[in-house]
This record gives sequence, structure tokens and C-alpha cells, in this order.
Amino acid sequence: MSVHHGVMRRPASVLVSGRLVLRRWQRQDIDALARAIRDSHDHLLPWSLLAVGDSRDVATDLVTTARSEWERDEAYKYAILVEGLVVGGCGLMRRAGPGGLEIGYWLHGDWTGRGLVTEAVAVLIAAGFALDGVEWLEIRHDVANVASAGVPRRLGFAEVKLQTAPHAPSPRMPGESGVVRVWRKTRP
Ligand SMILES: CC(C)(COP(=O)(O)OP(=O)(O)OC[C@H]1O[C@@H](n2cnc3c(N)ncnc32)[C@H](O)[C@@H]1OP(=O)(O)O)[C@@H](O)C(=O)NCCC(=O)NCCS
Repeated sequence: MSVHHGVMRRPASVLVSGRLVLRRWQRQDIDALARAIRDSHDHLLPWSLLAVGDSRDVATDLVTTARSEWERDEAYKYAILVEGLVVGGCGLMRRAGPGGLEIGYWLHGDWTGRGLVTEAVAVLIAAGFALDGVEWLEIRHDVANVASAGVPRRLGFAEVKLQTAPHAPSPRMPGESGVVRVWRKTRP
């Protein structure tokens, strides 16, 4: 972590909150991540590319990519840990454009319904606004993904627009409608 006059360029590798720890993905997480993805296949399939392909390959690719993105300051992706167990993932991504960061998240299918992602994203909000030059945070999800919508709603994001999914093919995953809702929160 680099600190200049109290303003950080990167978030900390480990962020702690009441029930959970967010820890920058490390190679040692690949086995646990592969297992979480494999166990959650049916839960992730409607919405997430994590469900596409061999879970071991997907996990290896996620961790490897996350490590290089972190080094290049493109994204800061974390494992969500409860008592040391990988129960999901989340991160801050710079692809939203200058002055902003996009937040992404997913949970293991057995760990939903407890507010864990909401708690993880609350931690990311604080970490994001602590970074140099970050004025707003964005969350995007397919409008059909009602569970995902609950996260920005509970955390006081404002709905800013609906747009056609920018990628082709669209919809890409079987649960998707192809219409994306964009939420934003500006620096308090
Ligand atoms: C999107 C996803 C992470 C949301 O998971 P989730 O369990 O709904 O989110 P949270 O962990 O914040 O839990 C919220 C739920 O727990 C309940 N809850 C219980 N205790 C809570 C607490 N202390 N705080 C907040 N919510 C709490 C909430 O009421 C809510 O349940 P409800 O929707 O029935 O009202 C999950 O559905 C998922 O992994 N989906 C597949 C991948 C995906 O779609 N990712 C997002 C792509 S944009």
C-alpha cells in the first residue's frame, strides 16, 4: 500500500469487518475457490461466467488475472472469507472510467441470505472512497438479477440508468435479460 499525505493509491490487501475478512486473492486460494465454484454451479450459472468451463481452470484464471490486475492497478479483487473459508469474491475495478470504480461480487450458493455480500460491499465502499481521486462508485447488474439489485439498494446507491448490455452475445448467461441497471454512489 502506498500512502501520500493520507491518500492511498491502492487499497489494503486485507480488509476486516464484523463477520468477514476480505483478502487479496493469492495462489493458495485456488483449490478452495475451485471447490466453491464447483459447489455453486447451479447458483452461478444464470448470471456468472464463473460457471462456464472447468472450475479448476476458472479458479486458476481468476486468481492469476486478479494478481496481475492488482499489480497494474486495474482491479483489486478479494476473496470473501468467513472463519478462513472462501465463501465468495468481490472487488473494485477501474474500468468504470476516470474518478470512478466499479464494484463486483458473488457468493457461494450456501452462503446467501445472511447479508454477507452487503457487508463485504460496505467494506469496499469505504476502501474505494479512501483512494486517491475516487469520486463515485458504480454497481451494474442485469435487471433480471433481483438478488444482485438488493445489494446497491441496501447500501444507498442511486439508480442512474438502464442500458443494453455492452457485450455480445447478449444476453450472455441464461438468467439474463440483456438489460443492465447502473447504480452509483458519490463520495459522501
Ligand atoms: C448477488 C448475490 C451475491 C446476492 O447474495 P445475497 O445473499 O442476496 O446478498 P447478501 O449476502 O447481502 O444477503 C442479503 C440477504 O440476506 C438477508 N439478510 C440477513 N441478514 C442480513 C444482514 N445482516 N444484512 C443484510 N441483509 C441480511 C437480506 O434480507 C437478504 O435476503 P432477501 O433478498 O431474501 O431479502 C448472490 O445472489 C449471488 O452470488 N448470485 C450469483 C452471482 C451474481 O449474480 N453476482 C452478481 C452479478 S452482478
